[in-house]
Amino acid sequence: QLPSRVRLIDVGPRDGLQNEKTPVPAEVKIGLVQRLQDAGLQEIEVTSFVSPKWVPQMADNAQVMAGIQRQPGVHYSVLTPNLQGYQASLASQPDEIVVFGAASEAFSQKNINCSIAESIERFAPVVQAALAAGIRVRAAMSCTVGCPYEGDIAPERVAYLAGLLKQIGVQRVDVADTIGVGTPRKVQAAIEATLRHYPIDDISGHFHDTYGQALSNTLAALELGVWNFQSSVAGLGGCPYAKGATGNVATEDVVYMLHGMGIDTGIDLDKLIDAGSYISDFLGRQSHSRVAVAMLNR
Ligand code: HMG
Ligand code: MG
Repeated sequence: QLPSRVRLIDVGPRDGLQNEKTPVPAEVKIGLVQRLQDAGLQEIEVTSFVSPKWVPQMADNAQVMAGIQRQPGVHYSVLTPNLQGYQASLASQPDEIVVFGAASEAFSQKNINCSIAESIERFAPVVQAALAAGIRVRAAMSCTVGCPYEGDIAPERVAYLAGLLKQIGVQRVDVADTIGVGTPRKVQAAIEATLRHYPIDDISGHFHDTYGQALSNTLAALELGVWNFQSSVAGLGGCPYAKGATGNVATEDVVYMLHGMGIDTGIDLDKLIDAGSYISDFLGRQSHSRVAVAMLNR
């Protein structure tokens, strides 16, 4: 029995653009967020409050958050790896903050410059402060099936991280396949490991399409009952600390698959394709969404 409804969190403005070499002006990011909400997205990951030395593309975080036209019913989230980022994000009034840890020690070091244990110590006061302020808290768990530095990641390590996140009060978690190496059964094992600590409603799938497995992995997650997914319009993206990692699964492709299976998303595919064309045109390249390319060439 598959879920009858799926909620998609578009991470294009954040995960999608963070790795772009050409600076994308704040107005373009704001325009992208506008088009995503117009298409029916109810959750949008807008930006991150991280070091501008590490991720220059996200340096305009406050400007982007100030420029978006908030729509009732839409939730806007931002990444905050530490208290400094959390405090900087407050003026922007995010609906949800996202801390991001890794199931792999080496990736934790490369991405956020600390061990897994240290990351939990850094997240704890952030989580506590956000919850006290009535801001929702999500955590991304990177490298839940494979790591660019350590190779295969055992499900036990995912369970370990999920348990730590639960202990510090994180409300929901993303099971991320950062470098897209996962295949359906491995992704299901990572989700099952997470289920030891979080109920299915609080688990989302975050699949990168580097090896072309992301839609299959999405279907595998649906089979377990997962109904929250992150995806990126036009398949934008990649992580700066995961060499060769390409974008998230394209939101258009996920929507096409789900609608074809009779699963409701609340998203207007034509308007979503317009949003993808807007950003692809700006970047001067063809969309990575197979569905968008096919439908535009019809
Ligand atoms: P650090 O160097 O260990 O931090 O960086 P620090 O506390 O020692 O501070 C050093 C400098 O950074 C200081 O500045 C701080 O002010 C500044 P200086 O005195 O040298 O001028 N700093 C900050 N500035 C702005 N905002 C902040 C902040 N914190 C410190 N929040 C830190 C630690 C985490 C900040 C750094 O490693 C960093 O920014 N990393 C970037 C991580 C990132 O954005 N990665 C991409 C997102 S994660 C992802 O894509 C995966 C995901 O999609 C899921 C998946 O697919 O796996 C979520
Ligand atoms: Mg990602």
